[in-house]
Amino acid sequence: MHAIEVCNLSYSYPDGTQALKEVNLSVEDGKKTAILGPNGSGKSTLFYHLNGIFLPQTGRVIVKGREITKKNLDWIRSTVGLVFQNPDDQLFAPTVKDDVSFGPSNLRLPGEEVEKRVGESLEIVGMTGFERVPPHHLSTGQKKRVAIAGILAMDPEILVFDEPLSGLDPRGQTELIELLDELNAEGKTIVVSTHDVDFASAWADEIYLLQRGMVYARGHPSEIFSNEDVVRATDLRFPVVVKVHKEFEAHGIYEKVDRIPLSIIDLVENLNGSEKRESGKIWVVRIPGMKEGGADAVNLDELKKVLDLDPDKTGAMGTTAKACAKMLGIESDFESDVIDSAISEAIRGGNVLVFASGGMSDLVSRRVEEYNRKSGKTIRWERLI
Ligand SMILES: Nc1ncnc2c1ncn2[C@@H]1O[C@H](COP(=O)(O)OP(=O)(O)OP(=O)(O)O)[C@@H](O)[C@H]1O
Ligand SMILES: [Mg+2]
Repeated sequence: MHAIEVCNLSYSYPDGTQALKEVNLSVEDGKKTAILGPNGSGKSTLFYHLNGIFLPQTGRVIVKGREITKKNLDWIRSTVGLVFQNPDDQLFAPTVKDDVSFGPSNLRLPGEEVEKRVGESLEIVGMTGFERVPPHHLSTGQKKRVAIAGILAMDPEILVFDEPLSGLDPRGQTELIELLDELNAEGKTIVVSTHDVDFASAWADEIYLLQRGMVYARGHPSEIFSNEDVVRATDLRFPVVVKVHKEFEAHGIYEKVDRIPLSIIDLVENLNGSEKRESGKIWVVRIPGMKEGGADAVNLDELKKVLDLDPDKTGAMGTTAKACAKMLGIESDFESDVIDSAISEAIRGGNVLVFASGGMSDLVSRRVEEYNRKSGKTIRWERLI
């Protein structure tokens, strides 16, 4: 089933500017899609159509098999959560708490459930403690986090983020990417817009290139970024790993390879020598996610068994996993980019212990398996709890 289908969508603003021209888009359930396009290419205009803020002038937008019309807007807004590019367009309530409560209250959930969701959502975005602060007293990045919390609190099946990385500091960006992966591992369909080619190429299952309101190209990141003509025709650039790869090829640092790298791990893989070493092992410890009770739901006696291990490096991904590692007195070596860092360590022969929240634990094993399949290596992994 398609989560979202956009068919021949065109849109002109009242002043005559045509922002979208015959746009076709289909987003599969459970996938990560990035809409990549320069300023003014129509990303925000497209996104306003995905949860009914704009209704199509021509064309159709279909969500989970139902066409968006004036009549089903309530359903659409509870199914598709849209985080605006500019948080000032989204935040309106007198305090952070009121703002984040607004969506779930409108879903007519019991007061207790609203409280719980507001608390969890603020914790996930790192804004616990700001409940009583008026949003206009926050910095842009903090506002962005609160706007995201407001959407998370509604727990929609499909999440659409317009420029989620803009305004966030590097740590905030890494945390946000991790959050997107965590939500995706829980089964959410995610669509983002961005002009960050490094992020889009490493993160997305599928990329749409938007140019002057039209879909210029669509495909897997490796297809999009191996096509020089496509990248040059749009006002984008190659991801840094692809640039480095081209330099390595040009300087004869390695043989010509068929597949362009999308991550540093891929790049390392292409370098000579790494395959000669014996790979290490990755132990995965699954910590219940926030919705499963988090650290409170952990069997501490069972968890303490991990203290007998002697890993070379430790990583923690996800809020509850980080909390549990701290609880055990373990200082994590990686708290961001955890999976790639763990694989990189294992390629060099090191053993890694990874604490992962909820569905993210499956993500670790999936990525390791995928890496083994592509590279012909055998990094071993074992789920401990
Ligand atoms: N309210 C408006 N009235 C008239 N034209 C508009 C309006 N909002 C946007 N546009 C125009 O529509 C086009 C698409 O704008 P849009 O905001 O969708 O682009 P974008 O891809 O989101 O850009 P950015 O990367 O800067 O966020 C642009 O040419 C823009 O000038
Ligand atoms: Mg925009």
